[in-house]
Amino acid sequence: MTDKPRLTTTAGAPYASNDTSKTAGPRGPVLLEDYQLIEKLAHQNRERIPERVVHAKGWGAAGTFTVTHDITKYSCAKIFSQVGKQTEVLSRWSTVAGESGAADTERDVRGFSLKFYTEDGNWDMVGNNTPIFFVRDAYKFPDFIRTQKRHPKTNLRSPEAMFDFWAAQPESVHQVTILMSDRGIPTNPMHMNGYGSHTFSLWNKDGERFWVKFHFKTQQGHKHYTNQEAEALIGKTREAYQEDLYNAIEEGRFPKWTMYIQVMPEEDADKQDYNPFDLTKVWPHGDYPLIEVGELEMNRNVENYFQMIENAAYSPSNVVPGIGFSPDRMLQARVWSYADAHRYRLGTHYEALPANAPRAAQVNHYHKDGAMRFFTNDFGNPDAYYEPNQYGGPVADATAAEPPLKIDPEAYRYPQEVSDIDFVQPRKLFEMFDADQKARLFANYAAAMGPCSKEVKERWYAVLERVHPDYARGVREANERMDSDVNAVPVTDKTATEAAE
Ligand code: HEM
Repeated sequence: MTDKPRLTTTAGAPYASNDTSKTAGPRGPVLLEDYQLIEKLAHQNRERIPERVVHAKGWGAAGTFTVTHDITKYSCAKIFSQVGKQTEVLSRWSTVAGESGAADTERDVRGFSLKFYTEDGNWDMVGNNTPIFFVRDAYKFPDFIRTQKRHPKTNLRSPEAMFDFWAAQPESVHQVTILMSDRGIPTNPMHMNGYGSHTFSLWNKDGERFWVKFHFKTQQGHKHYTNQEAEALIGKTREAYQEDLYNAIEEGRFPKWTMYIQVMPEEDADKQDYNPFDLTKVWPHGDYPLIEVGELEMNRNVENYFQMIENAAYSPSNVVPGIGFSPDRMLQARVWSYADAHRYRLGTHYEALPANAPRAAQVNHYHKDGAMRFFTNDFGNPDAYYEPNQYGGPVADATAAEPPLKIDPEAYRYPQEVSDIDFVQPRKLFEMFDADQKARLFANYAAAMGPCSKEVKERWYAVLERVHPDYARGVREANERMDSDVNAVPVTDKTATEAAE
């Protein structure tokens, strides 16, 4: 006997040995009745669940959101009801394309997910570190992601596929410009902003709706790695973000972000020369200034990464009264897609897992059985298992209804053709870069496009030309310099090379 706790089976019985199989004689075979050996190996076989189809590599923490400014005239959401109010938050940051073992400091867009455990249920802000995105119709999302993942034959990432796709979707140039700029490799999640990216809505207690963009600005300042710095770092550690974030929080250096909103009155949406529900566009801050809302502080490492971060199921469908969607086509598709992904990745009752279960709100629903139905949810009366019932089971609350939304009655597949307006914002962004930033932008392109065929390069230069002739020229020259320097040519994707020949 020791003073350590007793090792038990999953059924709670004491375990006689955790290192010696039961055999027929000292040199004989293992007996089938050594059930605990089978159990141990069977558990190991089930330790992996499918990784997220995108954003598989991630880092997370727990923290607090504090309201610092009154926005009740825009939203009746309880999270914003009072200055000083605090709400628990679970964050997860991620890269988009890499698998779960990918190196942290790769050039990629970063996911920026926040789960706010509000009194009216969980509000998930599932955004990125960029205010815009590559495409603006969900039909294009699976194809876009395919170009970011591995080629079916080479099993390598394929720059040819990436730029072939982007060249066919010139509206992507705004986001590709950010990706190839300094912001393409933040030093860690603490040194980057988060954006809801889509247009969302807020509504107030009088039923007035406002279109809104969410911004979380880092208080640590922006910091980025160059390609060379990132490559050197990956040679030493693939887990730089996890190390930086975990250690900062353990050492009490809690990262913080200031939350702002941009607000557009509902009737202004039709008055813009751009579509305010187009995810490839930002709203100019001169027209819609940032309004401060609160402070996000991540101040606790979770006790078990798998339980709280791998099991975290974020979904844009998780909104609460006072916060709503918008007609953004991409957002509309995301509202359906995530819960489906969670049911596949985690299981039917994924919302009941500790990471996802509301903490400040009571859960009352009539969904019943299924795998892992480990919670009761019978409202104190087992007869109230259908609705309506005479036993006092929960009923819908009409006060939670969103104000009515006017929509166009003509259903049709309206094309969103590329036009000059798609190049205005990337042009402004390019013009904001100083000479050094432009030089790095061009060099980053050359590193990324090096293996692409001549055809794909030319098609992308044509897109850049529509943004700014200096942009196209800079990228072309950087590529040509790299082509003439044999030592600088990166490892090629063989199929891409074959295609070019
Ligand atoms: C993760 C679908 C666009 C941000 C995911 C996942 C799916 C998905 C299926 C994996 C969920 C999981 O297994 O947990 C889609 C679809 C999109 C889309 C269908 C477009 C139609 C976007 C956009 C953003 C975004 C525009 C940002 C503005 C994220 C983030 C995650 C994620 C941050 C990781 C969430 C986490 O940390 O667990 N997406 N996505 N996605 N997506 Fe999207």
